[in-house]
Amino acid sequence: MKGIVFTEFLEMVESKFGLETLDNIIENGHLPSEGVYTSVGTYDFNEMVTLITNLSEETKIPVGDLIYAFGLYLFSGLANSHPEVIKNYNTPLGLLYCIEDHIHVHVKKLYPDAELPTFKILDKTDDKISMVYSSSRGLYRLAHGLIEKAFEHFGSTATITYDLLKEDGTEVKFDIVQNG
Ligand code: HEM
Repeated sequence: MKGIVFTEFLEMVESKFGLETLDNIIENGHLPSEGVYTSVGTYDFNEMVTLITNLSEETKIPVGDLIYAFGLYLFSGLANSHPEVIKNYNTPLGLLYCIEDHIHVHVKKLYPDAELPTFKILDKTDDKISMVYSSSRGLYRLAHGLIEKAFEHFGSTATITYDLLKEDGTEVKFDIVQNG
């Protein structure tokens, strides 16, 4: 998993839960990188799982809710670090429609070793989109947060529902309807 995801995660932990919680989740870790990450590095996905599990134990907030909150936080981090990737979009649905064929393609050029999910579009109209998230990492709650924030980015909101097509969250169908 890319370093930018780790640096954004640690930043979120510090700003939402404070420095002491951040220190605790790193120290209780058995983390190969000992909590030291650079945005250009690449680290084992299991390290992220350990950090999130420790944060859940520390805060008593369920892992899924923390991953969703991180998705909300991460969108702005990605958008600010790579404004060129999203500058061509002027609607949230237009952006979502292009994750698979443009946005993550661009990300793969920036970071050839990025491990990205796939999004298969099932249906799109002017105010809604249905798509299937697939990834062995099962980070559909992260996708949920990112999608929600994408609407906010354009000054809009949406009703987002999802259905687990596989129980472990590796395949999840999203139905997204723009409000108003
Ligand atoms: C990874 C979804 C937009 C860059 C991911 C992951 C998800 C995701 C769920 C986690 C990996 C996985 O599940 O297998 C989305 C959604 C987006 C979006 C729903 C739009 C709403 C963007 C944008 C950028 C970006 C705009 C960059 C400007 C990345 C990067 C990773 C990533 C760098 C990490 C890859 C790695 O760690 O190896 N994305 N993404 N994404 N995405 Fe996106």
